[in-house]
Amino acid sequence: MDYAIKDIDLAPGGRHRMDWANAEMPVLESIGDMFEAEKPFDGLRVGGCMHVTTETANLMVALQRGGADVFLCASNPLSTQDDVAAALVSHYEIPVYAKRGQDNETFYKYMNAVLDHKPHIVMDDGADVATALHRDRRELLDNLYGGTEETTTGVIRLRALANEGKLEYPVIAVNDALTKHMFDNRYGTGQSTLDGIIRATNYLLAGKTFVVGGYGWCSRGVATRARGMGSNVIVTEVNPLKALEAVMDGFRVMPMAEAAKLGDIFLTATGDIHVFDLHHMEDMKDGALLANSGHFDVEINIAALAEKCGEPQQVRPSVQQYTFPNGKKINILGEGRLINLAAAEGHPASVMDMSFAGQAMAAKYLADNKGKIENAVHTMPVELDMDISSRKLQAMGIDIDVLTPEQEKYLNSWEEGT
Ligand code: ADE
Repeated sequence: MDYAIKDIDLAPGGRHRMDWANAEMPVLESIGDMFEAEKPFDGLRVGGCMHVTTETANLMVALQRGGADVFLCASNPLSTQDDVAAALVSHYEIPVYAKRGQDNETFYKYMNAVLDHKPHIVMDDGADVATALHRDRRELLDNLYGGTEETTTGVIRLRALANEGKLEYPVIAVNDALTKHMFDNRYGTGQSTLDGIIRATNYLLAGKTFVVGGYGWCSRGVATRARGMGSNVIVTEVNPLKALEAVMDGFRVMPMAEAAKLGDIFLTATGDIHVFDLHHMEDMKDGALLANSGHFDVEINIAALAEKCGEPQQVRPSVQQYTFPNGKKINILGEGRLINLAAAEGHPASVMDMSFAGQAMAAKYLADNKGKIENAVHTMPVELDMDISSRKLQAMGIDIDVLTPEQEKYLNSWEEGT
C-alpha cells in the first residue's frame, strides 16, 4: 500500500485517541452502522483533503464501512496528528499522505497522490482540491460524481467558480448546513481557539483586552467564549448588521485602527486578507499576541512584519516573536495558521460529530444521484438538519415536545386572529 506518514509506530496511540473521540461521535457512528448495512459506496473511491485529526479519521472509517476505498491527505501543513495518520494506515489500511510540518511543495505532492487514485467523490476543506481539479488535473473531472466542502472559505471560493460558470462538478456545501456552521463554527471554533491560544502561551485570559476580528459564526464563538473567560472583548467588523449585533450582544465595537492600540490578544477569523496589517502591528502594545482562526494563513500580514523586523525568535513551540527596530515585540502564534489546529486539537469530537454526519450524508447523496445533480454549489436539505439534530438530541438523552394535533392545525391555518 502506498502512503506517506511520519512514523507508523505511532499507530497504537492514534487508535486509542480515535476511539476516545468516537465515543463523542454517536451520530456519525449511527450513520456508519447504516452505511455498513446498505453499502452506498460499493466500488467507489473517496479522496479527502482534510485536517488529519481523530474526528476526520472516524469519518474516513464510516465511509470505509459503507464500502468506499478511502484516500486522505492533509488540508493544512500544521494540523496533522501523526499518530492518527499512522493508525489509519496501520489499522484501517487507508492510504494517508500527511506529515505534520510538511512544506507547501509536499502539500501539493500529497494532494496529487490522493488525486492519482482517481476519486469518484472528493471531500474538500478550503477548496484546494477543487482548484487543483479545475486547473491542473482536468483529466479527472469526467470520473467525478461530485464533491463536498467543509468550510466557509471553501464555499466562498466554490461559489466564485460557479458564478464564473466554470464549476465542473456538483458540490454539496456542508458548511452551509445549520447543524454545521451554527455549532462547529460557533462552539467548535469558540472553544478550540481559546484552547489553542492557552496551550501556545499559558496566558490568563481574565482581565486581558481581547480583540476579535469579525463577527461571523466563528468570530462570535470566540468573542463569547473569551468574554466567558473574563476578557474585556472588542469586536471589529466591516458589515453594519453584524457590527450592530455585536453591539447589542454587549461587545465594544470600533475600527481595527483604534482596537490595535488597546488589545493584549488579537484573534482574526474573517476569511479575509491582512486583517492585522503592518500599520496595526506598529500601533500595538509591546508583547501583543496575534493569532488566526480563519482557514488560510493570510489574515495576519506576516510577510510585511518579517520584512520590517527580520527573522523571529521561536520563544515557545507555537510562538514566534518579532522585534521591531525600536525594541517592541509582537508574538505570532502558530505561524498565523489556524491556531485551534496548530496549537491544539481542533474542534472537539462532539461538535465534529454533527459536521461529519453532514459530510457522510452529503457523500451518500452524491453516490446515490450520479449524473442527476446540476454542476452548482448545493445546500443540504433542511430535513437532513432536522434528522442530524434529532439523532444528536437522542444521543444526549434529551427529549423534546411534539406538536399536538390542535397546535399543528393552528400553525397551518390563517382564520384565527385577534
Ligand atoms: N476543523 C476544525 N476542527 C477539526 C477537527 N477536529 N477535525 C477535522 N477538521 C476540523
